Amino acid sequence: MTTMFVPSFFTLKVNGRNVVVEADPKTPLLYILRNDLALNGPKYGCGLGECGACGILMDGRAVRACTVPIGAVSSRAITTLEGLGDQGRLHPVQRAFIEESGAQCGYCLNGMIISAVALLARNPDPQEADIREALRHNLCRCGTHVEILSAVRKAVVLCKAAAIAAPSASVHSAIPEVQA
Ligand code: FES
Ligand code: FES
Repeated sequence: MTTMFVPSFFTLKVNGRNVVVEADPKTPLLYILRNDLALNGPKYGCGLGECGACGILMDGRAVRACTVPIGAVSSRAITTLEGLGDQGRLHPVQRAFIEESGAQCGYCLNGMIISAVALLARNPDPQEADIREALRHNLCRCGTHVEILSAVRKAVVLCKAAAIAAPSASVHSAIPEVQA
């Protein structure tokens, strides 16, 4: 028996913009972001929710886009790496990863940054154990863990400095508040 492909239209809010896509409701969000919207920050790694390379923020929480069907995300606010900042206006976490050389091949970088941003959004003053716990399920096959941890420690400092410099403009202003 053949399975019927029933495409539907979905309106998504991605990086602050509303976009309409047509897809089978079971299509992983990761495929839509990369193939339809050309947002290649999230990477395809395992496709099984285990490596973290495909991390995105959904309503401020870090989730794995390879495990989320497009049919489950309408009305949720999605932020990808591209929505955090760009070359002229880096997010402090992006800056920290550059300054601390927190990557070798860079394949895990998207997931590491997204997990760090989500951590700092819910806990602006994480301790070492909090940082390690937040990144525990993000795999890095290059063994860049020491530099990645340094980058997140530096991100904590940069985020605090940014908050002091511009108290009314949160460094997380591009990211929706974490929903309870
Ligand atoms: S590709 Fe999504 S968790 Fe590995
Ligand atoms: S830098 Fe290569 S997988 Fe982490």
